[in-house]
Amino acid sequence: MRNNKLYIVMVGLPARGKSTIAYKLKDNLTKYGIRTGIFNNGDLRRRLTGVETSRPEFYSPDNRHGVELREKIAVTNMGRAADYLTRTGYVAILDATNVSAKRREKIIRSITDHPIIFIECINEDEKILKASIQRKISNPEFSHLTKENAIKSFRQRMAYYEMLYTPIETERNYIKLDSLNNKILAEEITDKIPYWDRIRDFLVTDTVKNLFLLRHGETHFNLENRIGGDSELTENGLAQAKGLARYFQRKKIPVIFTSEKRRTIQTAVPIKALQKRCTIIPLEEFNEIESGICECMSYEEIRDQMPHVFQARKKDKYNYVYPSGEGYVSMKHRVDMGLKKALYLSSDSQSIIIVGHRAVNRMILSHFLYRREEDVPYIYVPQDRFYHVVVTQDKKLLQLKPYTL
Ligand code: F6P
Repeated sequence: MRNNKLYIVMVGLPARGKSTIAYKLKDNLTKYGIRTGIFNNGDLRRRLTGVETSRPEFYSPDNRHGVELREKIAVTNMGRAADYLTRTGYVAILDATNVSAKRREKIIRSITDHPIIFIECINEDEKILKASIQRKISNPEFSHLTKENAIKSFRQRMAYYEMLYTPIETERNYIKLDSLNNKILAEEITDKIPYWDRIRDFLVTDTVKNLFLLRHGETHFNLENRIGGDSELTENGLAQAKGLARYFQRKKIPVIFTSEKRRTIQTAVPIKALQKRCTIIPLEEFNEIESGICECMSYEEIRDQMPHVFQARKKDKYNYVYPSGEGYVSMKHRVDMGLKKALYLSSDSQSIIIVGHRAVNRMILSHFLYRREEDVPYIYVPQDRFYHVVVTQDKKLLQLKPYTL
């Protein structure tokens, strides 16, 4: 057996991050000159068949036609992967659910020329799952359904896969990955796996391809120096959003994450309008710092009416928590979670946008800037510029860029 070629077989229920991990591996291995191909059963199915395979019944274990067709697709992709490794490829990734023990046995029986490692993706975070489903149903195969029916259909499809799901246990080489946190949960390596050290390292590294971190455009509250609330964009704010939209028109932005506040969504809408295919995903984790009893007050009003609040915050802005609200210190966890979610939901995209708020964006930037805690609440977050962030294993870039109105 030659040992510089490898099959990676993804395992996991739908929407658990398998393709995300497959892309991440391909990107990184290719950068090291290790030619890698992805053989995705879903893509092949969509290319070969029509709308009937988007119906949930197609995935029922009792649907003989469906079972046969999916087996045929799996076998075709195994053949294509084998061909690829015989010719120019070094790593072939079989990207499919492969949740049944029977399917995995078949793969092991049919593939004998190079070692196989199984990567099982696990993620039971219901919020992430919901957001993943939202992205899945933007796929053209669901375009004939209403949003509600598309979600129902996808959930039913998942339920059919759950009926067959046997988690990995006995295979010779496998890794179980918490695909949201890039954390290895279990690992068994019996054979010599080429490129293993590098692959393992890629799996646990948080990478950021092109993150454009924007602050929402100017709002009526901004003009009055008021904090919190759910104010709308001013005319100038709308012009800023349109300026951003023109800037990003030249780039492909498949997904924009916002908070649930009107000002971030209103900033995202014109950007989406100038993209071919783009989804806006509002995440509550990106909502602005909740200022409790000070919501909707201006800084001057707080200073005059609640001098104790004003002074205490001035003294230790990072650790100060607004009565009945939040502080930087207490919002850190949720913003971290939001960033993880956003990166998880979009790691098959070359570029993504997050439209956030002043305090939220400071927290996000603090990840990449390694500021001391006490300096985080003062990071510069203007409205006429945005941050471009790239983080890979060998590169870290953070640029503040202007755009024109
Ligand atoms: O733009 C105003 C704002 O986003 C407020 O909603 C928020 O309370 C504030 O900025 C956060 O900035 P700082 O922590 O400097 O008060």
